[in-house]
Amino acid sequence: MKTTVTLLLLILSIILNGQGVIRGPYMQTPTHNSIIFKWRTNQNTSTKVWYGTDSTNLNQVSSINNNVTDHTITITGLTPNTKYFYAVGNNAGILAGQTNNHRFKTNPLPGTETPIRIWAIGDFGKGNTGQLNVKNSYINYTGSKHTDVWMWLGDNVYDDGKDTEYQSKVFAYNGFSDIFSWLPFWPTPGNHDYNEVWAQSSFLGIPYSNLPLQNHVGPYYDIVDVPKQAEAGGFPSQLEVFYSFDYGNVHFLSLNSEVYDIANTNNGINQMKAWLIQDLQQNDKLFTIAYFHQPPYSKGSHNSDDVYELAMTKMREKIIPELENFDIDLVICGHSHVFERSHLINGHYGFSPSFDVPTMMKNGTNGNLAQGNAYIKDTLNNNDEGTVYVVCGNSGSSETAPALNHPVMAYTDGGSNAYGSFVMDVKKNRLDGKYLKVDGTIGDEFTILKKNLALSNISSKVLCQGDSILVQANHKGGSDSLRYEWLPTNNVANSIYIKSNSITTYTLKVTDLLTGQIENKTFNVNIIHTPTVTNVNDTLFTQQGYSYQWYFNGAIINGATNHYHVPSQSGNYSVELIQNPCTNLSTSFPYISLGINELQTDFSIYPNPIKTKLYIKNNPINRWTNVEIRTVEGKILWNEALNNTIHELNFSNYASGIYFIVLSNSKNDKQFKVVKE
Ligand SMILES: [Fe+2]
Repeated sequence: MKTTVTLLLLILSIILNGQGVIRGPYMQTPTHNSIIFKWRTNQNTSTKVWYGTDSTNLNQVSSINNNVTDHTITITGLTPNTKYFYAVGNNAGILAGQTNNHRFKTNPLPGTETPIRIWAIGDFGKGNTGQLNVKNSYINYTGSKHTDVWMWLGDNVYDDGKDTEYQSKVFAYNGFSDIFSWLPFWPTPGNHDYNEVWAQSSFLGIPYSNLPLQNHVGPYYDIVDVPKQAEAGGFPSQLEVFYSFDYGNVHFLSLNSEVYDIANTNNGINQMKAWLIQDLQQNDKLFTIAYFHQPPYSKGSHNSDDVYELAMTKMREKIIPELENFDIDLVICGHSHVFERSHLINGHYGFSPSFDVPTMMKNGTNGNLAQGNAYIKDTLNNNDEGTVYVVCGNSGSSETAPALNHPVMAYTDGGSNAYGSFVMDVKKNRLDGKYLKVDGTIGDEFTILKKNLALSNISSKVLCQGDSILVQANHKGGSDSLRYEWLPTNNVANSIYIKSNSITTYTLKVTDLLTGQIENKTFNVNIIHTPTVTNVNDTLFTQQGYSYQWYFNGAIINGATNHYHVPSQSGNYSVELIQNPCTNLSTSFPYISLGINELQTDFSIYPNPIKTKLYIKNNPINRWTNVEIRTVEGKILWNEALNNTIHELNFSNYASGIYFIVLSNSKNDKQFKVVKE
């Protein structure tokens, strides 16, 4: 009904002002900040596009003062990952658009880890009910979920790739006219698209000859505008013949199986090979998907063992080894009018009898995650971990009674009514591939998982007594199903409150429950205890190894910053132990002097603690006459008479520690404790 109204409005517009859009509008090469609009008008007009993030307020415009029927205009300066609405027309006004279905979403910034929905169709361009039903089955399946990448696998139109055929079978209502306004596509050409390329581009008058790639022209190349300069990521190909792009953490290569030539020079395929090696060398995305038309393995409407299937053979022999050398994940093709999906394989470059299961089959299961059979690839080594090959050439074409017996295949579907398309979802380290049959059911489902979990180091922690800290597990990669364990505790959250208990070494163990990958990180906790004070022979001590401040009756004792303190008078002493971020104050320690005050009226002894020399200032009236230096065990180390008013004792040869100075005269003796630093 809606389509009928739109069609009537279009016809009305053409009747009223004579101008109308007869193709599109459609979009090409969306990037994180730009997109290309293309449409065809029935008359030569200028080119103008209106756009904005509010469908009722298209407040930005871009225009070209040309006079054409085939319009192409690129808009730039867009915001990444943002939904826009648009309308197209000319300097006289809007001709199409300004509806909720004239919209697009810019790509996320390249490399962003974001869920991605991909839809691939092959051999669809027939304008038949098969094509229409496959499209409708996908639109019904995806619902409101945004399609990030729509992939065309070639033979995008039958029979000969003519502009009139694209118009009636692809751009028409029985093609994709109702979805072009909101769904950009990323194409690769097939042999049917190339019929017109060869017809228009014959080199020296010889079709299918060794045609230089820059001379590949025709309706297909007029219709598409693919990135030649890596506008959406990848490595510049300088040509529309093949190209690459990124979407999130997925790298895509649109290759071209039609670059072979009948003269068998391999010039085109070698040029493509040289480019893709450069492209894959700089690729750092987690998943890589290549697609092209003619598959390396098939037993459908085309047989990859047939010696006349030159393009299939060339792609298998020359291109597949390079793709596998970079351990790419998925190769998607069309051409054979069936659906075929391989196991996880590697190294098979010959005809099917040469497929050697022990060496080439990396995983011979069906790859179904729900059945415990996912294909798990390790990103942490350089091994060839295997690739899955998909043939989806049945999105508008079918084949009665195909053989479907290629030994690499894990799943096949074919027959006169076996239409379908291929849907992929990428999320984190997981790629799910689904064969969506035209009846809306899922015929096949497999999952590729990457072991890519990496834990960040956890630095050692300092914890004040009585406090607790939150330690968080930080990681990159992994799936949605991670299990955390903080050994030796039983904590299983992704963070842990650590209290100042006796555990000083913890290990975080994280298991990716989908891939089985286990990673560990160990860290230490240094617990800063509240200090205690003990009195040893009239010197107050606390534990060593920190910074200190001693207090007397709650007031700072200037300069008293060692782990010990020699008290000068009775009172309450306390010590503050300092290590960032802790400052722990001991309880008060009551100290009672044993006559030092009396002694101090008689003499002075300084400095204490001692660095190298100790001075004794004698009392001139009640003189001490002798001095001894003793160890804490009582052993006499030095003994001499005190003759001077100020007597000097050299401690430079004594080890650090506590010593006793014993002063005596004929009547009395006194012992005093000193500390050598
Ligand atoms: Fe084909």
